[in-house]
This record gives sequence, structure tokens and C-alpha cells, in this order.
Amino acid sequence: MSDNKLFMPFGVEYDLIKGIMKNPDKHLIRKASSMKGHYEDAAALDKIIAAGDPLHYEVFEKNIPEENGHLQFCISTTQPGLVGDECFMTKGHYHRIPETAEIYLCLTGRGYMLMKTKEGDSVAEEMFPGRMVYVPPYWAHRTVNTGDTPLTSFCVYPGNAGHNYGDIEVEGFPKRVYKRNGKIEISAWKRKS
Ligand SMILES: [Fe+2]
Repeated sequence: MSDNKLFMPFGVEYDLIKGIMKNPDKHLIRKASSMKGHYEDAAALDKIIAAGDPLHYEVFEKNIPEENGHLQFCISTTQPGLVGDECFMTKGHYHRIPETAEIYLCLTGRGYMLMKTKEGDSVAEEMFPGRMVYVPPYWAHRTVNTGDTPLTSFCVYPGNAGHNYGDIEVEGFPKRVYKRNGKIEISAWKRKS
């Protein structure tokens, strides 16, 4: 490997309680207004946007080459809250190179990782501090916060994996997560007509 291609080692500091990377190169912020089309109750989302458009989730990353052999890593934090009676969640995505996996180690909070394949398989894995969820190749994935505090995870995935948000926006996830009378319910998606 020539000198000008050598990637130098580095360290990163986190605040594991707040769920933030202290010196990120990239800080993705998604507010309620960027979640249109993802929740069952569109009118409830519009009300939340009109009432101040609160933070939904954020992702902190470093600049890592998008190449096979490197590892991308991030901290992602999803805020607690409800849209109607549906729990706050991330948009979710497939990887641009679908045969790439990802691990999520939950650091704070409580929730689920919803996963689905294009063949119609669907799984919800519980997330709580100390629990790791393995997202295998070919599974779209989204996190859902069912608690009252931020749900934070540390994630690692192959350097060249990339993101594909478009397919899942069209397909949707077959499971939705609700909080009703303080109880968590996971049910099948029934699109409102
Ligand atoms: Fe991913």
C-alpha cells in the first residue's frame, strides 16, 4: 500500500450516557418533518410538526472510506415519543450493497429493531442496554423507541455497505409498534384508506 493510501489510526470519544459522539465528522438530524409517510396517522404527525417539529433521531459518524475492508461505525439515538399511538422510530433502510450485515449494541433506553426482507420475512428484536442485535445481510432495519428515555445504540457495518432508503419507503415495514394505555403492542401494518 502506498503512503498516500494509508489510512491513519484514530480514536473517538463518546458520552455513553447522552448517547453522543464528541467529535463527529457527520451528524445526521431527523426531525418529525422528515418522517412524513412513515407513520400510520399522518394527521397526528402534522400536529407534532406544527407544535414545534421535535427531534426524532440523530446519527453521529466519522468519515471512513466507503471501501471493502473498512468498518463504518456510528452512534444512533432515537427520541421517545408517540405519533398518535405509534412509537417514535427511524426511517429504516436496506444497505446499498444488500449482502452486508450490521450489529447494533444498545447502550441506553428500550425498544425494538424491526427487520424485514424483500421476500416478506419480518422480525422484531428487543433492544435494551447490553443487548446486541445482529442484522444479517438482506434485512432492512429500523429502530423503534418504546421507552421514556432516548434509545441509543453503537453500530458497526462494512465500509462499502452504503444506504438504500428508497426501497423501504415504497415497501414499508409490515410490523408497527404502538404504546396503548402504557402497554407495547406490535401489530401488522394496516394502511389507512
Ligand atoms: Fe444499516
